[in-house]
Order: sequence, then C-alpha cells, then structure tokens
Amino acid sequence: MTDLKSIFAEKFALAIEAAYGAEHRDVDPLINVTNNPEFGDYQANIAMSLAKKIGDKPRNIANAIVENLALDNICAKVEIAGPGFINLYLENSLVNAQIQVMAEDVNLGIKPAETPETIVVDYSAPNVAKEMHVGHLRSTVIGDAIVRILMAQGHKVIRQNHMGDWGTQFGMLIEYLIDSGWDEKATHTSIGDLELLYQQAKQKFDQDAEFADRSRKRVVNLQGGDEYTLKLWRYLVDESMLHFSQVYKRLGVLLEETDNCPESFYNPLLDKVISDLEEIKLLEISEGAGVIFLDGFKDRDDKPLPMIVRKSDGAYLYATTDIAAVRYRLNELQAGRLIYVTDARQSQHFAMLFAAVRRAGWAAEDVKLDHMPFGTVLGPNRKPFKTRDGGTIKLVDLLDEAELKTASVIEKKNSEMPEKQRQEAAKVISIAALKYADLSNDRIKDYVFDWDRMLALDGNTAPYLQNAYVRILSIFRKGDIERQTIDKGAVIIQASSERTLALKLFQYAAAVEAVTERLEPHRLCTFLYELASCFHSFYEACPILKDGIEKDVRNSRLALCDLSARVIKDGLGLLGIETVEQM
Ligand code: ARG
Repeated sequence: MTDLKSIFAEKFALAIEAAYGAEHRDVDPLINVTNNPEFGDYQANIAMSLAKKIGDKPRNIANAIVENLALDNICAKVEIAGPGFINLYLENSLVNAQIQVMAEDVNLGIKPAETPETIVVDYSAPNVAKEMHVGHLRSTVIGDAIVRILMAQGHKVIRQNHMGDWGTQFGMLIEYLIDSGWDEKATHTSIGDLELLYQQAKQKFDQDAEFADRSRKRVVNLQGGDEYTLKLWRYLVDESMLHFSQVYKRLGVLLEETDNCPESFYNPLLDKVISDLEEIKLLEISEGAGVIFLDGFKDRDDKPLPMIVRKSDGAYLYATTDIAAVRYRLNELQAGRLIYVTDARQSQHFAMLFAAVRRAGWAAEDVKLDHMPFGTVLGPNRKPFKTRDGGTIKLVDLLDEAELKTASVIEKKNSEMPEKQRQEAAKVISIAALKYADLSNDRIKDYVFDWDRMLALDGNTAPYLQNAYVRILSIFRKGDIERQTIDKGAVIIQASSERTLALKLFQYAAAVEAVTERLEPHRLCTFLYELASCFHSFYEACPILKDGIEKDVRNSRLALCDLSARVIKDGLGLLGIETVEQM
C-alpha cells in the first residue's frame, strides 16, 4: 500500500476522467489535511481549480467528481461544502492500515527526492582571530538542520565552511603579535586571548599612525607570501580553528575540518575572476576601483550601485572571493544548487552576487542559488543580544550558562536523578534547548533570547518534546515491555484522540518536505510540537497499562506509542537535536 496522497491522487484521476474525459485526468486534486474535524480529515480543492477550464460552477464540478469517486474502504464519508470543497473522512480501517505501512517503513514515510541534486550548503563561517558569537550560532544551527534534512531526502550535500581567514585586519594582528614579543616558542595562547588581541591591535591601529603604517606594510607582506608573516598568520588561523572545532563538537553539528574551505583558499583564483570579467566586458572602472554594474541595484540616492570587486589599491574583496567560490562550487564540486546561510544583513550582497554570476553566464539558468537569511538574536531589551556592558556574548559562555540552568530545571523536575546522570542530561538538553529556540522561530524574524522560555517544560520547546519522548519510554519501562518485541502493526483506532494522533503522524513526511520547499526549519518544529500535544491528549484519555485493558487495545496503544516515539526522535534528529532516555 502506498501513501494517502498517492491513493487519493489515483482515485481522483479516475473520477475526473469519468466525469470530464482523459485530458483532465492528471490535474492535481489539491488535497490537504484539514485542521478542523468539521471539514473532514482531508479536503480537496480541485473543483475550484477546474471551474475555469471546464466552464462550470465549482459546486457542480464537485458533485460530478464525487458521483464518480470510488472510495470504498478509503473514506467513510464524502461531503461537499461551501462553494465546492470536497471533504473526505477516512475509514478507520484505512487509518489502521496506513499506520502499519508507516510503522514498517524505516524512513517513516519520508521519500527520497525524485531527482537527487548535489547541493552546497555554506554555513557557520566564523571569522579567524575572533570568538564565535551568538550570530554564528544561528548560521551553524540552521545550516546544520537543513543539511541533515536534504541528506535524508537523498541529496548529495557538500558542507562548506567559508571562514573569514583573510583580509587587511591580519596586518595589524600580526604586527601586534610581533610587538608583544611573539616568537616560535611562545606558550600556548588561547582564543580568549586572541579576541583580546584583536581589540588591542585595533585600538593601537586607530591611535598609532606608525603602527597603522607598519600594519599596512604587513598586509603587503602577507599577500606577497612572505614566509615569516605567513607563519604568524597560520598560528592565528590554527588557534582559531581549534576553538571553532571545540564549539562544533559541543554543539554536535556535522561540520568537520574537511568542510573548511576558508576565504584564503580562493586567493589563487581571484586574478582569473578579474581577467575573465574584463574579457566578457563586465568589469568597469569607477573612481579607480574595478566594479560590476547590475540592473536593479540602486543606492540611497537612486544612483546605480556597483558591486566592487577590486579596490583602487588593487586589493580584492569579500565579493571577489564569493564569485570565485561560486565558480569553484559549480565547476569543481559539480553542484547544481548553492545555499548560503547568513544574517539577513547580507541579503544585498548575495542578491548582487547571484545577479553577477548569472549575468556573466557562470551560473546556468537551471542552477539554483539560494540565500537563506535569518534575523538577529535580541536581548530582553529587544536590542541585539549583548553582555551587560555592551560586549558580544561569547558562545562558550552561553553554552556553559545553558548547562547550569538546565541542570537546575532537571533537579526541580526529578530530584532523585543521580548527580552524574543529571549532568549528562543537562549537556544534551541545554544544547537541544538552544538549537530548538533558534530553529522554531520563523528564521527571517528577529527573536528574543529568553532562557525561561527555551527551557520551559511546556510550550513549543525542546524540553517539552524531549519530555514527551521520555514519557513514552517510561511507559515501556513501567510495563517491562521491550520496544522491539511489540507488534508495530497492531493498531486498531477506537478513541478519537487515537485517531487524531494517527492522522498527525501521517503528516510527518509532508512536514519534512515543507522545510526544504521553503528552507524553513520551523515548519518541522511546529509539526513536532503538535504531534507531542496530540500524544499528550491521547495519553491522558487512553490508559495503556491499567488493569483490565484488553490485550488488543493495549497492543494497539503500545504500537501508537512506539511510532510516536520514533517520529519524535527522528524529527528532532533531522533538526540536529538529540533525545535523552530520562529526565
Ligand atoms: N564570515 C562571514 C561572516 O561572518 C560569513 C561568510 C558567509 N559565506 C559566504 N560565502 N560569504 O559574516
């Protein structure tokens, strides 16, 4: 048996053919889940969309289709409502059968993409010699979720960590290192110090003209490949990478060292970008700088806004590197789609980048270029999230604080849990809470960072979902039942809360698809939250282990529990979020 959507598609095709002839047969029946049982379980909007083509009132069309619909054993009832909606009420036997289909599918209904693509996801991308902050958290978490979901759909995903490891700031950083007596034998300097180094170097640069001058010369040395300068640069890069990979490990994201493809990687390719732009006559000179003018981009005074690719002193820019990266990803990595996960403030940069590579003919029409922008993390005062004295909040500090807060939430909930176990659980749950808070908000909107809300045991939070999962496991534990031994297909729907839960479970695959359709991870969060709520209602209404419950009923309910747990765990997993066994 196949999924409900295909079953309906086939039955509707037959009915439409019978009513209006084969030429209309393959139109999409536009069947959606209803969120109100008054309108059935599913609703078809086909009559509205056919009205024009057929030249009749939707209501008449709905009638004609319904007369020809053979839905025996599929629908208990079919109704026409309003202007011509077709409301479909599933037969309980079909719900039972479909649960079995889903339970036996290791992918829980998620289908591989019809045409798998090679997709580059460019995310995280922190900057060397700077501490990762909460803005990079968003890119890392959102990017990682989208990577996991695309992979689950059978796409080949190439992760690219486009770290900022090049630029004029390295002149002053290196010069400052030298001034402060750096030498090969220098003792290990942690990245915390490097952040400080950045601030101090910047201050000196702004105040000391001689130092600024030396810094600029140092940039020339760096670009010229001077060995000593490169050695110091490498040191800064390595130290930073060490710090980044520790954060990745703690966050449990997929990024590995092999995904690093930092800005400096593209240096050898930049001259060619410029000469190719010259050759195709896209490069113009404006006030000494090399620029590209693109249709539709205007500055505040409504004058054409150029994309600068070479400064008047000959230096290349962020945009130049990004053009080289597009070419590399399309030509060498053979990608058909590029997704960039950054702050919304970079939207114009990517719009121009995409326009430029299309215009140059370097990204063919069928290549997909997507910017996946996100909003800012705000503090309680609704201003960008900062420390009390206005500094940037370090990611590591944030993770530590999350862990402490989570441990105390668990202690309140389950005071009997041994200390060590509590700490382990706090590690997992705190990361989960942070990630989920980030993912469950519409990504383009700014969101307020709020510990109490993200750690709450009710509401649309990770702890709520993890708790639902834990609760299910504890049912099996209490009943001394091995999950593997239960009959997955034993479902016999009786109570209405069982039915609601089953229908919600069927929506899993569609929720996952909704994420990739619009690159919106929060759609999966919303689904999981609704699922957990449905489970909660079912659990309240339907006793499972109580004495006197018939064996068949008990087995059916256990099967529903098992499938719910699997979907919650799998769904959270796609978001990069782990579950715990107890909390
Ligand atoms: N390093 C940049 C930043 O911190 C993000 C890089 C995004 N990727 C890219 N290909 N431009 O803002």
